[in-house]
Amino acid sequence: MKILVVGSGGREHALCWKIAQSPLVSRVYCAPGNPGVASLAKGESVPLGAEDFEGIAALIEEKDIGLTVVGPENPLAAGIVDYLSARGEVVFGPSAAAARLEASKAFAKDFMSRHGIPTANAAVFEDPETARRYVRAHGAPVVIKADGLAAGKGVTVAKTLEDALSALDLIMERRVFGDAGTRVVIEEYLEGEEASILALCDGEQVLMLPTSQDHKPVFDGDQGPNTGGMGAYSPAPVITPALETEIREKILEPTVRGMASEGTPYRGVLYAGLMITKSGPRVVEFNVRFGDPETQAVLPRLESDIVSALTACAEGRLDTVKLTTSSRPCVTVALVSGGYPGSYEKGKVITGIDAAQQDPDVTVFHAGTAKAGDQLVTAGGRVLNVTALADTLEEAVKRAYHAVSLIHFDGMHYRKDIAHRALNRTQ
Ligand code: AMP
Ligand code: GLY
Repeated sequence: MKILVVGSGGREHALCWKIAQSPLVSRVYCAPGNPGVASLAKGESVPLGAEDFEGIAALIEEKDIGLTVVGPENPLAAGIVDYLSARGEVVFGPSAAAARLEASKAFAKDFMSRHGIPTANAAVFEDPETARRYVRAHGAPVVIKADGLAAGKGVTVAKTLEDALSALDLIMERRVFGDAGTRVVIEEYLEGEEASILALCDGEQVLMLPTSQDHKPVFDGDQGPNTGGMGAYSPAPVITPALETEIREKILEPTVRGMASEGTPYRGVLYAGLMITKSGPRVVEFNVRFGDPETQAVLPRLESDIVSALTACAEGRLDTVKLTTSSRPCVTVALVSGGYPGSYEKGKVITGIDAAQQDPDVTVFHAGTAKAGDQLVTAGGRVLNVTALADTLEEAVKRAYHAVSLIHFDGMHYRKDIAHRALNRTQ
């Protein structure tokens, strides 16, 4: 069987890497892919944009691809699954209507309220003056969110009234996120520890993947601006087995039932970003795809064949799937370009990946890399995800950072405290 993964980051390299391990698979294509994907024995990057639906459909036909897995949110929100399904293709991912759970925060909030799914109290505004009045009456801390897709940058956790008003100004008046800022969601600030839950959903059933935790701020100790994710680890001990059951019963199952009852069944991977508060888990956000970099820490722990699981999910047969997970923890550390998430330079030569991968439990996933002649160079903010499995979390962290110490590019930055919450918990 041949598989196509749509996207080009660390998440897509990890998906291709795991898919290529399946004995069912003869070839994995990735559009547009990256040099990491191309280096897999069964892997091949195809220079097609993730939103070039026609090009992707032609590729599926030409290569006789049996399953397409969509990585990023933008093509999902733009209807790639509807487009390819209408042509009779088997696609893993939600329809555009179901992808509104991520593409419109206002839709997600209303949906959760209709179905009694625990989340922060919120109000939605289209008029800037009414929004300002609400914020002044509410006071800080408060969270201001652009309604639409803003590449993870549309959220401000405002500690002061001034910060909240300036976030409203940026989103609604200056329109720095374009149409994503037509509406804002103003939300109660939730206190607690965050965790990410990924679950396969086939429209009716839910199968949870191992838990994980991301690290969004760019500097150690959660300082500095938010990024796409500076590292992750799995499992996240903040999610106890009792909480896992509560999350399934109070969040994931009601979401899938609710989407089905509204005529927009949810198929694909549902990512619930949660805050574990004193009064229980609350949804901070839904994403309609695999998390990046959570996927890089979760998939190495998966012992089952991912291809049978994704195919069964896409075909509505999730009840036939049982997933087994390794008890060994996994850590992934993002190596990023100096300056990221602000502006940064590209084209820096990367060395040391082969040396880092001498350890059989270390895998280096490419996120933003390119080939310049024979050399591998940086081509994005997040450049590599250095990933290690080990018998304990401490050991996995040690191995990941040892591997990191062997890799170099000019301006390379990374957080040195990935997994600190879990490590401090066990001390
Ligand atoms: P999002 O892009 O929606 O994941 O939000 C980015 C980050 O903002 C989240 O990972 C949280 O750390 C934080 N955040 C979002 N909503 C809230 C909230 N209601 N209370 C506290 N923190 C929040
Ligand atoms: N790790 C955050 C995200 O995938 O949105």
